[in-house]
Amino acid sequence: MILAIESSCDDSSIALTRISDYKLVFHKKISQELAHSEYGGVVPELASRLHAEALPKILEEAKGFLHQVKAIAVTNEPGLSVTLMEGVMMAKALHLALNVPLIGVNHLVGHIYSLFIEQEEKLPKMVLLVSGGHTMILDVRGYNDMKVLATTLDDSFGESFDKVAKMMGLGYPGGPIIEKLARKGDENRFNFPVPLSKTNKLAFSYSGLKNAVRLTLSEMEKLSQQDIADIAASFQKAAIAHLLQKTKKAFDLYHPKEFAIVGGASANLRLREEFIKECEKRGIAISFALLEFCADNAAMIARAGIEAYKRGEFIAMEDLKVLPRSCLT
Ligand code: KG4
Ligand code: ZN
Repeated sequence: MILAIESSCDDSSIALTRISDYKLVFHKKISQELAHSEYGGVVPELASRLHAEALPKILEEAKGFLHQVKAIAVTNEPGLSVTLMEGVMMAKALHLALNVPLIGVNHLVGHIYSLFIEQEEKLPKMVLLVSGGHTMILDVRGYNDMKVLATTLDDSFGESFDKVAKMMGLGYPGGPIIEKLARKGDENRFNFPVPLSKTNKLAFSYSGLKNAVRLTLSEMEKLSQQDIADIAASFQKAAIAHLLQKTKKAFDLYHPKEFAIVGGASANLRLREEFIKECEKRGIAISFALLEFCADNAAMIARAGIEAYKRGEFIAMEDLKVLPRSCLT
């Protein structure tokens, strides 16, 4: 089995996956969302302290499997350095204690492999990654063979939901809260601009849309429940329209046969609907990770780790470093 550890942001998670048939044998995650909610975003030092408490507790539950572990996979990039450090320290300790090799996993590659949990990988695919830290279109051909085709110039898709929720005092994470409110709102009440719609550029930008919401809020006096729902719906409509507009452009340029959406924000059902419609129109096969594996988890890190294991891509303890920024280009 591969034992995997994920601590790049606010989820502490450990998974054990069988190498021969990808069976997820153990998976547990302790989310810190509640602890960060009152701050409207993740507080790195608090997150780090909570990982230091949660990871050993989860490991204790997995103790019975440790004699079957063949390698330790750990997220070492990208993410918050103080939280990544917690997982990497535990991985190094286990590497020494169990005398098995170490694998460093890029968190974004992990999200891509969330598509293949308990499955063979099916590539190539064009992949849209939408999370709190990233908004990217990638051409994915293999574990070590992927290229970023488009990325964001500023904020990410999920982050813009978090910030809009924070502006209206709705808590964290904003994505599920805004999605739920949007169902009761009028998405045509506010005409928020779809970012970069006048340029041909294959890139994303969410800071302008966020600021348009901020401006609208500053012009309104007291917000009713209906106002909040209408803002959520109108914002979500523009945010998804931007993703769709740029992805359509990527479809026109690269003609993929298969397409997938991954990352925490890929749990958004409205987003799924819009992309399913577009892909049906174009005859492109579309897939998603199971809802339970969209947000950060160690099962996806274990699944990616198996690919590294099969290739013998291990890293010496002294070379395994925490990298806050991704080296994917
Ligand atoms: O992948 P993830 O768990 O963590 C990162 O790697 O960033 O993604 C978390 C992000 C947060 O910004 C959260 O608000 C967003 O995904 N998110 C959503 C939804 N569920 C989570 N955004 C929009 N709609 C959702 N339903
Ligand atoms: Zn993530």
